[in-house]
Amino acid sequence: MEQSAKTIDHEMGKNSQAVRKKLLNRTPKSEEAARRGHPSLAMEVVQTVDMPHQIYIDSAEGPYLTDLDGNQYIDLTCGFGPNVVGNRPKPVEKALSSQIKKGWHFGIPGAEQAHLAELIKDSSPAVDEVMFCNSGSEATMFAFRAARAVSGKRVIAMFDGSYHGIHDYALVKADHKSDRSTPTSSTLGAGIPEEISRDLMMMLPNRDSNAYDLIKQYKDDLAMVVIEPVQSSNPRLDNQEFLKGLREVCTECGVLLMFDEVITGFRIEYGGCQEYYNIFPDVVTYGKAVGGGMPIGVVAGSKRVMNAFSGSDNTPPIFAGGTFNGHPLTMVSGIAILKHLKKNQKEIYPYLHEQGDRISTEINKFCSSMNIPAQMMNAGSMMHLIFSGEKIESARDIGRSKIEKEFYLHLLGHNVIVPGIHLAFITYAHKPDVIDEVIDAFKKSFQDLREDGLI
Ligand SMILES: Cc1ncc(COP(=O)(O)O)c(C=O)c1O
Repeated sequence: MEQSAKTIDHEMGKNSQAVRKKLLNRTPKSEEAARRGHPSLAMEVVQTVDMPHQIYIDSAEGPYLTDLDGNQYIDLTCGFGPNVVGNRPKPVEKALSSQIKKGWHFGIPGAEQAHLAELIKDSSPAVDEVMFCNSGSEATMFAFRAARAVSGKRVIAMFDGSYHGIHDYALVKADHKSDRSTPTSSTLGAGIPEEISRDLMMMLPNRDSNAYDLIKQYKDDLAMVVIEPVQSSNPRLDNQEFLKGLREVCTECGVLLMFDEVITGFRIEYGGCQEYYNIFPDVVTYGKAVGGGMPIGVVAGSKRVMNAFSGSDNTPPIFAGGTFNGHPLTMVSGIAILKHLKKNQKEIYPYLHEQGDRISTEINKFCSSMNIPAQMMNAGSMMHLIFSGEKIESARDIGRSKIEKEFYLHLLGHNVIVPGIHLAFITYAHKPDVIDEVIDAFKKSFQDLREDGLI
Protein backbone atom coordinates (compact mmCIF):
# COMPACT_ATOMS: atom_id res chain seq x y z
CA MET A 1 0.00 0.00 0.00
CA GLU A 2 1.56 3.27 -1.07
CA GLN A 3 -0.32 5.36 1.41
CA SER A 4 -3.11 5.12 3.93
CA ALA A 5 -5.40 7.69 5.53
CA LYS A 6 -3.10 7.80 8.56
CA THR A 7 0.03 8.61 6.55
CA ILE A 8 -1.37 11.46 4.51
CA ASP A 9 1.39 14.00 4.15
CA HIS A 10 0.47 17.01 6.28
CA GLU A 11 2.54 19.22 4.01
CA MET A 12 0.03 18.61 1.21
CA GLY A 13 -2.46 21.25 0.18
CA LYS A 14 -5.94 21.02 1.64
CA ASN A 15 -7.53 19.78 -1.59
CA SER A 16 -4.92 17.04 -2.00
CA GLN A 17 -5.51 15.87 1.54
CA ALA A 18 -9.27 16.02 1.14
CA VAL A 19 -9.38 13.98 -2.07
CA ARG A 20 -7.17 11.24 -0.61
CA LYS A 21 -9.36 11.05 2.46
CA LYS A 22 -12.53 10.96 0.36
CA LEU A 23 -11.22 8.23 -1.96
CA LEU A 24 -9.92 6.09 0.88
CA ASN A 25 -13.10 6.44 2.92
CA ARG A 26 -15.35 5.39 0.09
CA THR A 27 -13.34 2.40 -1.18
CA PRO A 28 -12.81 -0.04 1.74
CA LYS A 29 -13.56 -3.13 -0.37
CA SER A 30 -11.01 -2.10 -2.97
CA GLU A 31 -8.46 -1.47 -0.22
CA GLU A 32 -9.12 -4.96 1.13
CA ALA A 33 -8.80 -6.48 -2.37
CA ALA A 34 -5.50 -4.63 -2.90
CA ARG A 35 -4.19 -6.01 0.40
CA ARG A 36 -5.27 -9.53 -0.56
CA GLY A 37 -3.50 -9.42 -3.92
CA HIS A 38 -0.31 -8.02 -2.48
CA PRO A 39 1.43 -11.26 -1.33
CA SER A 40 0.57 -13.32 -4.43
CA LEU A 41 0.55 -10.99 -7.44
CA ALA A 42 3.96 -10.14 -8.90
CA MET A 43 2.30 -7.17 -10.54
CA GLU A 44 -1.25 -6.03 -11.01
CA VAL A 45 -2.26 -6.99 -14.53
CA VAL A 46 -2.58 -3.32 -15.34
CA GLN A 47 -2.50 -0.26 -13.19
CA THR A 48 -5.91 1.28 -13.61
CA VAL A 49 -5.51 4.58 -11.92
CA ASP A 50 -3.14 6.62 -9.80
CA MET A 51 -4.45 6.57 -6.27
CA PRO A 52 -3.28 5.53 -2.82
CA HIS A 53 -4.50 2.00 -3.54
CA GLN A 54 -5.86 0.39 -6.67
CA ILE A 55 -9.60 0.46 -7.17
CA TYR A 56 -11.30 -2.60 -8.55
CA ILE A 57 -14.21 -2.63 -10.95
CA ASP A 58 -17.24 -4.77 -10.34
CA SER A 59 -19.44 -3.92 -13.31
CA ALA A 60 -19.86 -1.62 -16.27
CA GLU A 61 -22.70 -0.22 -18.32
CA GLY A 62 -22.68 2.33 -21.14
CA PRO A 63 -20.31 5.19 -20.19
CA TYR A 64 -20.01 4.11 -16.54
CA LEU A 65 -17.88 1.84 -14.35
CA THR A 66 -18.91 0.76 -10.85
CA ASP A 67 -16.30 -0.28 -8.29
CA LEU A 68 -16.51 -2.97 -5.58
CA ASP A 69 -17.92 -0.45 -3.13
CA GLY A 70 -20.70 0.67 -5.47
CA ASN A 71 -19.12 4.00 -6.48
CA GLN A 72 -19.95 4.97 -10.05
CA TYR A 73 -17.45 6.69 -12.35
CA ILE A 74 -17.57 8.08 -15.87
CA ASP A 75 -15.34 5.71 -17.78
CA LEU A 76 -12.62 7.36 -19.88
CA THR A 77 -10.53 4.17 -19.84
CA CYS A 78 -12.87 2.38 -22.25
CA GLY A 79 -10.99 -0.89 -21.81
CA PHE A 80 -7.73 0.85 -22.94
CA GLY A 81 -9.43 1.65 -26.24
CA PRO A 82 -11.50 -1.32 -27.42
CA ASN A 83 -14.89 -0.01 -26.29
CA VAL A 84 -16.15 2.29 -29.05
CA VAL A 85 -19.87 2.19 -28.25
CA GLY A 86 -19.64 1.87 -24.46
CA ASN A 87 -19.65 -0.98 -22.00
CA ARG A 88 -21.81 -4.05 -22.53
CA PRO A 89 -23.21 -3.21 -25.95
CA LYS A 90 -26.34 -5.31 -26.46
CA PRO A 91 -25.36 -6.95 -29.80
CA VAL A 92 -22.10 -8.23 -28.27
CA GLU A 93 -23.76 -9.41 -25.07
CA LYS A 94 -26.32 -11.34 -27.11
CA ALA A 95 -23.68 -12.95 -29.34
CA LEU A 96 -21.51 -13.98 -26.37
CA SER A 97 -24.46 -15.39 -24.39
CA SER A 98 -25.62 -17.53 -27.26
CA GLN A 99 -22.07 -18.81 -28.00
CA ILE A 100 -21.54 -19.70 -24.32
CA LYS A 101 -24.54 -22.01 -24.47
CA LYS A 102 -22.87 -23.91 -27.34
CA GLY A 103 -19.40 -24.20 -25.74
CA TRP A 104 -16.52 -21.80 -26.11
CA HIS A 105 -13.24 -23.43 -27.00
CA PHE A 106 -12.75 -26.25 -29.44
CA GLY A 107 -9.36 -25.80 -31.13
CA ILE A 108 -10.98 -27.12 -34.29
CA PRO A 109 -12.25 -23.93 -35.92
CA GLY A 110 -15.84 -22.78 -36.28
CA ALA A 111 -17.25 -21.03 -39.33
CA GLU A 112 -17.14 -17.61 -37.60
CA GLN A 113 -13.48 -16.95 -38.50
CA ALA A 114 -14.31 -16.56 -42.17
CA HIS A 115 -17.22 -14.22 -41.36
CA LEU A 116 -15.07 -11.88 -39.25
CA ALA A 117 -12.30 -12.05 -41.86
CA GLU A 118 -14.76 -10.94 -44.55
CA LEU A 119 -15.91 -7.98 -42.46
CA ILE A 120 -12.31 -6.82 -41.91
CA LYS A 121 -11.45 -7.35 -45.57
CA ASP A 122 -14.47 -5.26 -46.60
CA SER A 123 -13.33 -2.40 -44.36
CA SER A 124 -10.11 -1.65 -46.27
CA PRO A 125 -8.82 -1.96 -49.82
CA ALA A 126 -5.39 -2.78 -48.32
CA VAL A 127 -6.68 -6.10 -47.00
CA ASP A 128 -6.77 -9.20 -49.17
CA GLU A 129 -6.49 -11.68 -46.30
CA VAL A 130 -6.37 -11.76 -42.50
CA MET A 131 -4.93 -13.94 -39.76
CA PHE A 132 -6.22 -14.02 -36.16
CA CYS A 133 -4.25 -14.11 -32.92
CA ASN A 134 -4.90 -12.97 -29.36
CA SER A 135 -3.43 -9.53 -28.82
CA GLY A 136 -2.10 -6.50 -30.62
CA SER A 137 1.41 -7.52 -29.54
CA GLU A 138 1.07 -10.93 -31.16
CA ALA A 139 -0.20 -9.26 -34.32
CA THR A 140 2.80 -6.93 -34.61
CA MET A 141 5.17 -9.81 -33.81
CA PHE A 142 3.70 -11.97 -36.60
CA ALA A 143 3.63 -9.01 -39.00
CA PHE A 144 7.34 -8.26 -38.41
CA ARG A 145 8.16 -11.95 -39.00
CA ALA A 146 6.08 -12.10 -42.17
CA ALA A 147 7.75 -8.95 -43.53
CA ARG A 148 11.22 -10.39 -42.92
CA ALA A 149 10.23 -13.67 -44.62
CA VAL A 150 8.65 -12.02 -47.65
CA SER A 151 11.36 -9.41 -48.22
CA GLY A 152 14.38 -11.51 -47.26
CA LYS A 153 15.63 -8.43 -45.34
CA ARG A 154 16.22 -8.10 -41.59
CA VAL A 155 15.64 -4.58 -40.31
CA ILE A 156 12.28 -3.17 -39.23
CA ALA A 157 12.00 0.60 -38.85
CA MET A 158 9.69 2.22 -36.33
CA PHE A 159 9.09 5.80 -35.20
CA ASP A 160 10.12 7.82 -32.18
CA GLY A 161 7.14 7.96 -29.76
CA SER A 162 5.43 4.84 -31.05
CA TYR A 163 4.11 1.81 -29.19
CA HIS A 164 3.75 -1.57 -30.86
CA GLY A 165 3.34 -3.93 -27.91
CA ILE A 166 5.36 -6.10 -25.59
CA HIS A 167 7.49 -8.50 -27.65
CA ASP A 168 11.25 -8.04 -27.85
CA TYR A 169 11.27 -6.38 -31.29
CA ALA A 170 8.66 -3.83 -30.24
CA LEU A 171 10.31 -2.80 -26.98
CA VAL A 172 12.76 -0.40 -28.54
CA LYS A 173 12.68 3.28 -27.71
CA ALA A 174 14.40 6.38 -29.02
CA ASP A 175 17.20 7.80 -26.89
CA HIS A 176 15.89 11.25 -26.12
CA LYS A 177 19.39 12.64 -25.87
CA SER A 178 20.00 11.73 -29.51
CA ASP A 179 19.34 14.11 -32.37
CA ARG A 180 15.62 14.54 -33.14
CA SER A 181 16.06 13.94 -36.86
CA THR A 182 18.43 10.98 -36.55
CA PRO A 183 17.33 9.26 -33.36
CA THR A 184 19.31 6.38 -31.94
CA SER A 185 17.55 3.75 -29.88
CA SER A 186 17.89 1.26 -27.07
CA THR A 187 15.82 -1.59 -25.70
CA LEU A 188 13.17 -0.86 -23.09
CA GLY A 189 13.44 -2.65 -19.74
CA ALA A 190 15.72 -5.48 -18.69
CA GLY A 191 15.90 -8.86 -20.39
CA ILE A 192 16.02 -7.82 -24.06
CA PRO A 193 19.29 -8.33 -25.95
CA GLU A 194 20.72 -4.98 -27.07
CA GLU A 195 21.49 -6.50 -30.50
CA ILE A 196 17.78 -6.06 -31.23
CA SER A 197 17.90 -2.27 -31.14
CA ARG A 198 21.44 -2.14 -32.57
CA ASP A 199 21.14 -4.52 -35.53
CA LEU A 200 17.53 -5.48 -36.18
CA MET A 201 15.39 -2.41 -35.49
CA MET A 202 15.86 1.15 -36.66
CA MET A 203 14.38 4.35 -35.20
CA LEU A 204 12.96 7.05 -37.46
CA PRO A 205 11.87 10.61 -36.58
CA ASN A 206 8.09 11.03 -36.64
CA ARG A 207 6.56 13.81 -38.74
CA ASP A 208 10.03 14.73 -40.00
CA SER A 209 11.01 14.39 -43.65
CA ASN A 210 14.46 13.18 -42.66
CA ALA A 211 12.69 9.83 -42.12
CA TYR A 212 12.33 9.63 -45.93
CA ASP A 213 16.06 10.17 -46.43
CA LEU A 214 16.91 7.49 -43.86
CA ILE A 215 14.57 5.01 -45.59
CA LYS A 216 16.22 5.75 -48.94
CA GLN A 217 19.67 5.32 -47.40
CA TYR A 218 18.90 1.97 -45.70
CA LYS A 219 16.40 0.52 -48.19
CA ASP A 220 18.51 -2.55 -48.94
CA ASP A 221 18.37 -3.61 -45.28
CA LEU A 222 14.81 -2.53 -44.51
CA ALA A 223 12.16 -5.24 -44.56
CA MET A 224 9.38 -2.90 -43.42
CA VAL A 225 8.59 0.54 -42.05
CA VAL A 226 6.02 0.41 -39.27
CA ILE A 227 3.98 3.38 -38.15
CA GLU A 228 1.05 4.20 -35.91
CA PRO A 229 -0.77 6.54 -38.30
CA VAL A 230 -1.89 8.38 -35.18
CA GLN A 231 0.42 7.90 -32.21
CA SER A 232 -1.41 7.34 -28.96
CA SER A 233 1.41 9.16 -27.14
CA ASN A 234 0.69 12.20 -29.26
CA PRO A 235 -2.89 11.93 -30.57
CA ARG A 236 -3.45 14.32 -33.45
CA LEU A 237 -4.91 14.08 -36.92
CA ASP A 238 -2.64 16.45 -38.87
CA ASN A 239 -0.50 13.58 -40.23
CA GLN A 240 -1.86 13.44 -43.79
CA GLU A 241 1.12 14.96 -45.58
CA PHE A 242 3.70 12.98 -43.64
CA LEU A 243 1.88 9.67 -44.25
CA LYS A 244 1.40 10.45 -47.94
CA GLY A 245 5.14 11.11 -48.32
CA LEU A 246 5.93 7.95 -46.37
CA ARG A 247 3.70 5.84 -48.64
CA GLU A 248 5.47 7.25 -51.70
CA VAL A 249 8.98 6.72 -50.35
CA CYS A 250 8.28 3.13 -49.29
CA THR A 251 6.84 2.29 -52.71
CA GLU A 252 9.77 3.95 -54.47
CA CYS A 253 12.31 2.08 -52.29
CA GLY A 254 10.60 -1.33 -52.43
CA VAL A 255 10.15 -1.35 -48.64
CA LEU A 256 6.92 -2.69 -47.14
CA LEU A 257 4.80 -0.20 -45.19
CA MET A 258 2.76 -1.29 -42.19
CA PHE A 259 0.07 0.72 -40.39
CA ASP A 260 -0.29 -0.42 -36.81
CA GLU A 261 -4.00 0.25 -36.34
CA VAL A 262 -4.33 -1.73 -33.11
CA ILE A 263 -5.63 1.36 -31.32
CA THR A 264 -7.00 3.41 -34.25
CA GLY A 265 -8.70 0.64 -36.23
CA PHE A 266 -12.52 0.92 -36.10
CA ARG A 267 -12.10 3.89 -33.72
CA ILE A 268 -10.93 6.85 -35.84
CA GLU A 269 -13.31 5.76 -38.61
CA TYR A 270 -14.90 2.43 -39.41
CA GLY A 271 -12.01 1.88 -41.83
CA GLY A 272 -9.52 3.29 -39.30
CA CYS A 273 -6.83 5.81 -40.25
CA GLN A 274 -6.68 4.22 -43.68
CA GLU A 275 -10.15 5.57 -44.37
CA TYR A 276 -9.53 8.91 -42.64
CA TYR A 277 -6.39 9.64 -44.69
CA ASN A 278 -7.27 7.57 -47.76
CA ILE A 279 -3.75 6.09 -47.63
CA PHE A 280 -3.22 2.35 -47.74
CA PRO A 281 -0.28 0.29 -46.47
CA ASP A 282 0.90 -3.20 -47.44
CA VAL A 283 0.28 -4.64 -43.99
CA VAL A 284 -2.15 -3.62 -41.21
CA THR A 285 -2.38 -4.83 -37.66
CA TYR A 286 -5.58 -4.56 -35.66
CA GLY A 287 -6.59 -5.45 -32.10
CA LYS A 288 -8.69 -3.81 -29.39
CA ALA A 289 -11.98 -2.60 -31.01
CA VAL A 290 -12.16 -5.39 -33.57
CA GLY A 291 -12.74 -7.97 -30.80
CA GLY A 292 -15.68 -6.10 -29.27
CA GLY A 293 -13.98 -6.33 -25.86
CA MET A 294 -12.63 -9.88 -26.19
CA PRO A 295 -8.86 -10.47 -26.58
CA ILE A 296 -7.80 -10.26 -30.22
CA GLY A 297 -5.01 -9.45 -32.64
CA VAL A 298 -5.25 -9.39 -36.41
CA VAL A 299 -2.59 -9.35 -39.10
CA ALA A 300 -4.05 -8.23 -42.40
CA GLY A 301 -2.71 -7.09 -45.72
CA SER A 302 -1.88 -7.70 -49.32
CA LYS A 303 -1.84 -11.23 -50.67
CA ARG A 304 1.90 -10.90 -51.23
CA VAL A 305 2.62 -10.44 -47.52
CA MET A 306 -0.14 -12.72 -46.23
CA ASN A 307 1.33 -15.51 -48.38
CA ALA A 308 3.92 -15.83 -45.61
CA PHE A 309 1.23 -17.45 -43.45
CA SER A 310 0.16 -19.99 -46.07
CA GLY A 311 3.39 -20.47 -48.02
CA SER A 312 1.44 -19.76 -51.23
CA ASP A 313 3.13 -18.57 -54.43
CA ASN A 314 6.49 -20.02 -53.31
CA THR A 315 6.70 -17.64 -50.33
CA PRO A 316 8.84 -19.04 -47.49
CA PRO A 317 6.22 -19.92 -44.83
CA ILE A 318 6.65 -18.51 -41.35
CA PHE A 319 5.70 -20.44 -38.23
CA ALA A 320 2.47 -19.08 -36.78
CA GLY A 321 -0.01 -20.61 -34.38
CA GLY A 322 -1.70 -20.26 -31.00
CA THR A 323 -4.02 -22.38 -28.87
CA PHE A 324 -6.64 -19.65 -28.65
CA ASN A 325 -6.31 -18.11 -32.12
CA GLY A 326 -9.74 -17.62 -33.67
CA HIS A 327 -11.44 -18.29 -30.31
CA PRO A 328 -15.22 -18.67 -30.83
CA LEU A 329 -16.13 -16.08 -28.19
CA THR A 330 -13.80 -13.54 -29.76
CA MET A 331 -15.04 -14.29 -33.26
CA VAL A 332 -18.75 -13.87 -32.44
CA SER A 333 -18.05 -10.79 -30.37
CA GLY A 334 -15.99 -9.28 -33.23
CA ILE A 335 -18.67 -10.07 -35.80
CA ALA A 336 -21.38 -8.51 -33.61
CA ILE A 337 -19.46 -5.29 -32.98
CA LEU A 338 -18.28 -4.83 -36.58
CA LYS A 339 -21.79 -5.39 -37.95
CA HIS A 340 -23.09 -2.83 -35.47
CA LEU A 341 -20.33 -0.29 -36.25
CA LYS A 342 -20.69 -0.78 -39.99
CA LYS A 343 -24.46 -0.30 -39.93
CA ASN A 344 -24.30 2.80 -37.71
CA GLN A 345 -21.02 4.31 -38.89
CA LYS A 346 -22.63 7.48 -40.25
CA GLU A 347 -23.88 8.39 -36.76
CA ILE A 348 -21.12 6.93 -34.60
CA TYR A 349 -17.92 8.32 -36.11
CA PRO A 350 -19.00 11.95 -36.71
CA TYR A 351 -20.31 11.96 -33.13
CA LEU A 352 -17.00 10.68 -31.72
CA HIS A 353 -15.04 13.33 -33.63
CA GLU A 354 -17.43 16.11 -32.66
CA GLN A 355 -17.43 15.28 -28.94
CA GLY A 356 -13.67 14.61 -28.81
CA ASP A 357 -13.07 18.01 -30.42
CA ARG A 358 -15.54 19.63 -28.04
CA ILE A 359 -13.65 18.30 -24.99
CA SER A 360 -10.33 19.58 -26.37
CA THR A 361 -11.69 22.97 -27.36
CA GLU A 362 -13.40 23.56 -24.02
CA ILE A 363 -10.45 22.47 -21.93
CA ASN A 364 -7.93 24.38 -24.01
CA LYS A 365 -10.06 27.52 -23.79
CA PHE A 366 -10.28 27.09 -20.03
CA CYS A 367 -6.52 26.51 -19.64
CA SER A 368 -5.60 29.54 -21.66
CA SER A 369 -8.12 31.78 -19.86
CA MET A 370 -6.75 30.62 -16.49
CA ASN A 371 -3.14 30.77 -17.65
CA ILE A 372 -2.66 27.04 -16.95
CA PRO A 373 0.24 25.43 -18.87
CA ALA A 374 -1.68 22.42 -20.15
CA GLN A 375 -3.40 21.39 -23.36
CA MET A 376 -5.69 18.59 -24.45
CA MET A 377 -4.60 16.82 -27.64
CA ASN A 378 -7.10 14.60 -29.41
CA ALA A 379 -7.56 12.49 -32.49
CA GLY A 380 -11.32 12.14 -32.53
CA SER A 381 -12.32 10.11 -29.49
CA MET A 382 -8.76 9.39 -28.30
CA MET A 383 -7.20 12.08 -26.14
CA HIS A 384 -4.23 12.95 -23.98
CA LEU A 385 -3.88 15.89 -21.62
CA ILE A 386 -0.37 17.29 -21.91
CA PHE A 387 0.99 19.34 -19.03
CA SER A 388 2.83 21.86 -21.14
CA GLY A 389 1.82 25.14 -22.72
CA GLU A 390 4.42 24.74 -25.49
CA LYS A 391 3.61 23.70 -29.05
CA ILE A 392 3.81 19.91 -29.39
CA GLU A 393 5.43 18.72 -32.62
CA SER A 394 6.10 15.12 -31.63
CA ALA A 395 6.28 12.81 -28.62
CA ARG A 396 9.74 14.30 -27.95
CA ASP A 397 8.06 17.46 -26.67
CA ILE A 398 6.04 15.58 -24.04
CA GLY A 399 7.40 14.92 -20.59
CA ARG A 400 5.62 13.74 -17.47
CA SER A 401 4.90 16.54 -15.09
CA LYS A 402 5.02 16.06 -11.32
CA ILE A 403 1.50 17.42 -10.93
CA GLU A 404 0.04 14.98 -13.45
CA LYS A 405 -0.53 12.21 -10.91
CA GLU A 406 -2.14 14.68 -8.54
CA PHE A 407 -4.43 15.97 -11.29
CA TYR A 408 -5.80 12.50 -12.05
CA LEU A 409 -6.41 11.86 -8.37
CA HIS A 410 -8.61 14.95 -8.26
CA LEU A 411 -10.33 13.84 -11.45
CA LEU A 412 -11.12 10.52 -9.79
CA GLY A 413 -12.45 12.44 -6.80
CA HIS A 414 -14.82 14.10 -9.28
CA ASN A 415 -15.86 10.62 -10.47
CA VAL A 416 -14.02 10.44 -13.79
CA ILE A 417 -11.59 7.56 -14.40
CA VAL A 418 -8.54 7.90 -16.63
CA PRO A 419 -6.06 5.01 -16.37
CA GLY A 420 -2.49 5.29 -15.13
CA ILE A 421 -1.16 5.65 -18.71
CA HIS A 422 -3.23 8.86 -18.93
CA LEU A 423 -4.65 8.08 -22.35
CA ALA A 424 -8.38 8.78 -22.39
CA PHE A 425 -11.19 7.69 -24.68
CA ILE A 426 -14.86 8.40 -25.13
CA THR A 427 -17.50 6.23 -26.74
CA TYR A 428 -20.83 6.63 -28.50
CA ALA A 429 -22.45 5.91 -25.13
CA HIS A 430 -20.92 9.12 -23.71
CA LYS A 431 -23.89 11.32 -24.57
CA PRO A 432 -23.55 15.15 -24.54
CA ASP A 433 -24.68 15.49 -20.90
CA VAL A 434 -22.01 12.97 -19.83
CA ILE A 435 -19.41 14.90 -21.86
CA ASP A 436 -20.53 18.08 -20.05
CA GLU A 437 -19.81 16.34 -16.75
CA VAL A 438 -16.38 15.25 -18.03
CA ILE A 439 -15.46 18.81 -19.03
CA ASP A 440 -16.69 20.10 -15.70
CA ALA A 441 -14.63 17.51 -13.78
CA PHE A 442 -11.46 18.47 -15.69
CA LYS A 443 -12.02 22.16 -14.91
CA LYS A 444 -12.68 21.43 -11.22
CA SER A 445 -9.52 19.31 -11.01
CA PHE A 446 -7.42 22.17 -12.39
CA GLN A 447 -9.05 24.51 -9.87
CA ASP A 448 -8.23 22.07 -7.04
CA LEU A 449 -4.58 22.18 -8.04
CA ARG A 450 -4.59 25.94 -8.35
CA GLU A 451 -6.12 26.42 -4.89
CA ASP A 452 -3.35 24.21 -3.48
CA GLY A 453 -0.79 26.39 -5.25
CA LEU A 454 0.39 23.56 -7.50
CA ILE A 455 -0.27 25.40 -10.78
C1 LIG B 1 -0.57 0.77 -31.67
C2 LIG B 1 -0.51 -0.41 -30.76
N1 LIG B 1 0.10 -1.54 -31.17
C3 LIG B 1 0.15 -2.64 -30.40
C4 LIG B 1 -0.39 -2.65 -29.14
C5 LIG B 1 -0.32 -3.87 -28.29
O1 LIG B 1 -1.60 -4.42 -28.17
P1 LIG B 1 -1.94 -5.41 -26.94
O2 LIG B 1 -1.92 -4.57 -25.71
O3 LIG B 1 -3.30 -5.94 -27.28
O4 LIG B 1 -0.91 -6.46 -26.94
C6 LIG B 1 -1.02 -1.49 -28.66
C7 LIG B 1 -1.59 -1.45 -27.31
O5 LIG B 1 -1.95 -0.46 -26.75
C8 LIG B 1 -1.09 -0.34 -29.49
O6 LIG B 1 -1.67 0.79 -29.07
